[in-house]
Amino acid sequence: MKIGIIGAGNVGTGLARLLGPKGHEIMLSFTRDANKLAQTAKTFGTKSGSVPEAVVFGEVVALATPWPMTKDAIAQAGVVTGKKVLWDCTNALKPDMSGLAVGTTTSAAEELQKTAPWARVVKGIPPFAELMQTGNVQIGGKGVGVFVASDDAEAKRLVTSLVRDLGAEPTDAGPLTNARYIEPAAFLLVQLAYVQGLGSKIGLSLLR
Ligand SMILES: NC(=O)c1ccc[n+]([C@@H]2O[C@H](COP(=O)([O-])OP(=O)(O)OC[C@H]3O[C@@H](n4cnc5c(N)ncnc54)[C@H](OP(=O)(O)O)[C@@H]3O)[C@@H](O)[C@H]2O)c1
Repeated sequence: MKIGIIGAGNVGTGLARLLGPKGHEIMLSFTRDANKLAQTAKTFGTKSGSVPEAVVFGEVVALATPWPMTKDAIAQAGVVTGKKVLWDCTNALKPDMSGLAVGTTTSAAEELQKTAPWARVVKGIPPFAELMQTGNVQIGGKGVGVFVASDDAEAKRLVTSLVRDLGAEPTDAGPLTNARYIEPAAFLLVQLAYVQGLGSKIGLSLLR
């Protein structure tokens, strides 16, 4: 599949690291420094381009931007024709990581959907980037859980297949409004990793 990625930081390159070897073609985008982006793309064996180029390129476009930069990134996409699958990997952390900037009567995903009417938004917060960068998102032989929410069944199916290709364990989490609960759960994980000292090689898993 062709995947455009907006945000070539920890998460964007983590996705590239895991999905490239699965045969996906990847274009990284969104930077303050075009030379750095070109170098990053070389390191991860991907293409690089502008945000509009990545949006046109991708059958799925993954959004991996810090929350405060997300509106700017979407604005850079400009006028988009057709309905694009937008895999929302963001978590709306406050800049000082003291809490969430939006929630629980709305979500980052729903706010994103309002900003990008051209998008079929799918929420699916990937595993911690440090875990993805090890090349293996399994813990104790089990892929860490990724809760996938969307109002568009086909878009959800595509993102679910990419989550599987990461080596993670997707769970269908229902409509996009359920991002209201996915995002706080991911924030709990941030607290456990960085405040409670468990470190980033952790993930959520659904037991049945
Ligand atoms: N880190 C994780 O483990 C993790 C896991 C799951 C979800 N998330 C979420 O995923 C999103 C991305 O996280 P990340 O850790 O990948 O972020 P990051 O490493 O800081 O990456 C930020 C990306 O945005 C680009 N950018 C462009 N303009 C920018 C600006 N004005 N200020 C800052 N960056 C700018 C950066 O490129 P240049 O530096 O080249 O300008 C870089 O490609 C966040 O919403 C986060 O909450 C993170």
